[in-house]
Amino acid sequence: MGGPVKFFFLVIAAAAPLLSAAQHMAKPQALWINNATLHGNSVMRFTLITDLIRGEEEYFAAGFVCATTPKCDVYLFAVFIVFGFYNSSGKFLVLEDASREVIWSANRDRPVRENATLEFTSDGNLVLHDADGSHVWSSGTSGRSVTIMVITENGNLVLSDQREATVWQSFDHPADTMVPGQSLLQGMRLKAYTSPTNWTVDQFYITVLPDGLNAYYAEGTTLPQLYFSFQTKIGKIANDPTRATFMDGSLSFMLGPDRIENITFPVAHSTWPVAQYIRLDKHGYLGLYEWSKGERSTMVYDIMGSLGMDACAYPTVCGAYGVCNGGQCTCPLENNSSTVYFKLVDDRKPNLGCTPFTPVSCQEIQHHKLLTIPNISYFDYSHTALNAASIDDCKQACLKNCSCMLVLFRARECVWVTKVFSLHAIQQENVGFDSPVYLKVQLIPSIFAPNANRKKVMLAATVGAVTTLVLLLIAVTLYIQRRRKYEEKDEEFDFDKLPGTPTRYSFEKLSECTEGFSKKLGEGGFGSVFEGKLGEVRVAVKRLEGARQGKKEFLAEVETIGSIEHINLVRLIGFCAEKSERLLVYEYMPRGSLDRWIYYRYNNAPLDWCTRCRIILDVAKGLCYLHEECRRKIVHLDIKPQNILLDDNFNAKVADFGLCKLIDRDQSKVVTMMRGTPGYLAPEWLTSRITEKVDVYSFGVVIMEILSGRKNIDNSQPEENVQLINLLREKYQNNQLIDLIDKHSDDMVSHQEEVVQMMKLAIWCLQHDSIQRPSMSTVIKVLEGVISIQTFDANSLGFVQENPSTYSVPSQTSILSGPR
Ligand SMILES: *[C@@H]1O[C@H](CO)[C@@H](O)[C@H](O)[C@H]1NC(C)=O
Ligand SMILES: *[C@@H]1O[C@H](CO)[C@@H](O)[C@H](O)[C@H]1NC(C)=O
Ligand SMILES: *[C@@H]1O[C@H](CO)[C@@H](O)[C@H](O)[C@H]1NC(C)=O
Ligand SMILES: *[C@@H]1O[C@H](CO)[C@@H](O)[C@H](O)[C@H]1NC(C)=O
Ligand SMILES: *[C@@H]1O[C@H](CO)[C@@H](O)[C@H](O)[C@H]1NC(C)=O
Ligand SMILES: *[C@@H]1O[C@H](CO)[C@@H](O)[C@H](O)[C@H]1NC(C)=O
Ligand SMILES: *[C@@H]1O[C@H](CO)[C@@H](O)[C@H](O)[C@H]1NC(C)=O
Ligand SMILES: *[C@@H]1O[C@H](CO)[C@@H](O)[C@H](O)[C@H]1NC(C)=O
Ligand SMILES: *[C@@H]1O[C@H](CO)[C@@H](O)[C@H](O)[C@H]1NC(C)=O
Repeated sequence: MGGPVKFFFLVIAAAAPLLSAAQHMAKPQALWINNATLHGNSVMRFTLITDLIRGEEEYFAAGFVCATTPKCDVYLFAVFIVFGFYNSSGKFLVLEDASREVIWSANRDRPVRENATLEFTSDGNLVLHDADGSHVWSSGTSGRSVTIMVITENGNLVLSDQREATVWQSFDHPADTMVPGQSLLQGMRLKAYTSPTNWTVDQFYITVLPDGLNAYYAEGTTLPQLYFSFQTKIGKIANDPTRATFMDGSLSFMLGPDRIENITFPVAHSTWPVAQYIRLDKHGYLGLYEWSKGERSTMVYDIMGSLGMDACAYPTVCGAYGVCNGGQCTCPLENNSSTVYFKLVDDRKPNLGCTPFTPVSCQEIQHHKLLTIPNISYFDYSHTALNAASIDDCKQACLKNCSCMLVLFRARECVWVTKVFSLHAIQQENVGFDSPVYLKVQLIPSIFAPNANRKKVMLAATVGAVTTLVLLLIAVTLYIQRRRKYEEKDEEFDFDKLPGTPTRYSFEKLSECTEGFSKKLGEGGFGSVFEGKLGEVRVAVKRLEGARQGKKEFLAEVETIGSIEHINLVRLIGFCAEKSERLLVYEYMPRGSLDRWIYYRYNNAPLDWCTRCRIILDVAKGLCYLHEECRRKIVHLDIKPQNILLDDNFNAKVADFGLCKLIDRDQSKVVTMMRGTPGYLAPEWLTSRITEKVDVYSFGVVIMEILSGRKNIDNSQPEENVQLINLLREKYQNNQLIDLIDKHSDDMVSHQEEVVQMMKLAIWCLQHDSIQRPSMSTVIKVLEGVISIQTFDANSLGFVQENPSTYSVPSQTSILSGPR
């Protein structure tokens, strides 16, 4: 470091005479250090200031300005407008301490810190180094005989040579602002300032083309999309680049000698001291601004709006996938369909846009679908690369290319888009182009039945046929024997006479509607579940296995569920009881069971906090209904994520009453066989005094799994973390509940205080003493914010050792369906 430091001292000595007063020009071999000794105040530090030419108190200055407010720790090297005056001792004093408008900056994507240096080197280069000496920016003019640096009265920072020819000027590298006298030349971009410290993330920009002005939006590395275009009416004739100059209340396009076309601003000519400039803002608006001393800078004229731009046609007005309709933001809906594919990113801020429930994945291209969204237009129609002659070709071409996310057919051209920003609802009266847009969505693949390929099916069929022949004899013999037994028992239950039961179906019908039980959705405690279709309605058919054992449970299910209807309980549509076959037909739940969504085994996107809250409340309502609102109290006995199913909108419903045990209301304690699933069993199973509070305990475990995004017993974790509930006790006692929040989701982390409150509710449900646990109706009141969580003593928390081998209950009475 010895070299550079010495060098700096030399330069400081040389530059020192120049710093005695703020100047409008500097010579090579000058160095400014971004510290308090520069002219100015804590918010801006001047290196150069214009002479008093523009107006009484309005100045252009070059120097360091804070990039962030109100905390000032990083700086831009910038040209900015400031109000001030020189006092009689030649010192420049700022009026209104923190007011300045930055019109250009060298380093807005990389601000520098205190002690950064700006050096005008002896070979004519202007170089910015950060405080640690790292190179940040330079004008690239070394060796070009630069002899002077000036800030002009227009606010242009200029490096010129002996003959006063401009070698470099800030006007050639515009930021987001144009000041009077400044031109935008073909090839230059005016770029909006979308983030205070990083403007490479998303970008609005404007360029000048031979036939006018075009505005684009791009996010990250996506292809820029055109959202605004101003076409000049007269053609360009000259060969030199087109320029648009901001001057005298208009933006003039010079298209050749004497060929000028203006966008004129009908704004009264400002009187001094008023600063005027054109700026492209972070929402993509191009505006004329005015700023005068003591006032806020305001947009006085919306340039694009005056040229016919609709407020709903800006790319980010409603965020990605958001539909803008008269300023209101909603999510897109398919024509004539009740299925919802998108949800708001944040329910309270609809303008942040929508997100698909299932992200489009290039690995699952066979499950892509184009939704028809009627009466919508999209702002960008500049990409017509797909080779398609008709609307159907256009859609087909889009479905074949994974990067195509939206298509529309306009003026016989197939328009496609690789990233979808805001959509624009067209009002009825101005449906000029009445073609709908087609949005690509990902359908949920059937995870449990990956598309079996034909060969496998054929092979299986052949093997099956041979095996069938062999087994047929055995089967017939066995069947005749067993049938005798069942015929006697079947007389006990006359299913036709059960009151209020759902539709009864024949086995043949259900076999047909499930295509011979081919699409397995999952496996429950007493049998497998298959997908089927009754007419147009998708259903889930549960086929109970081992009829002898399942008969009792089957009856219980039909009897109880048949009479129960609640929005948070899976509805029983029908059943079949034929010979030894026992089947139940349930409503189909498109998003499957909750475990698919919270354990991240299928690479799904994390659920947001709001969705998780809703699921917890839905489950609580379903359970509350079973416990407290039914004619007879029903204890579920096997609450776990696999038994919580989700519909298209992530409404949760409690499923699988196969383990239901009825408890008469006056008989609150019942000795039953031990049931349920390890990991969700309440401690009192060990003492066999079972009440509905066992469900409350299991519900507590489910809450924790939802909040932590992992299984209660997860053997893939380090040994001390295998059991979530033990971990919960430890974290609760050390006041570190935050550690348990699902880290997959930024949204969860950003709601950590609410999540921790929810964890406390879980702890309340997980108490060892079942009497201390809240009832489900109390849980709902807590969730709805009507009452707060009762204070509880940390020492009263009980957690059962979740190791099935330690249970003292005789194992022959246990029906433990293994963890699935
Ligand atoms: C600020 O920089 C100047 C050189 O420009 C130096 O002389 C002075 O010591 C520095 N002051 C502080 C407080 O660092
Ligand atoms: C000019 O301003 C400086 C800094 O505030 C001050 O020190 C100086 O006394 C002022 N001169 C006069 C003549 O007021
Ligand atoms: C800037 O440099 C001075 C010495 O030149 C040092 O005292 C001061 O702490 C530095 N400031 C920062 C923020 O690093
Ligand atoms: C700005 O964002 C881009 C894209 O996210 C990133 O690559 C870049 O490193 C960021 N720059 C800074 C200075 O943070
Ligand atoms: C356009 O504006 C320029 C500068 O303000 C002016 O000289 C010219 O006459 C205007 N031309 C037209 C066609 O309005
Ligand atoms: C569209 O909706 C109407 C009314 O709801 C219905 O009659 C019609 O069958 C639906 N068409 C399709 C293709 O779903
Ligand atoms: C919407 O659906 C209806 C009925 O299916 C159909 O007649 C109509 O053409 C569809 N609209 C568009 C824009 O596709
Ligand atoms: C998809 O479209 C993009 C953009 O036109 C193109 O670069 C890419 O090659 C296409 N991919 C396929 C598989 O056709
Ligand atoms: C679309 O607009 C037409 C009128 O242009 C209207 O009749 C139709 O109902 C609208 N469709 C939808 C789905 O809003």
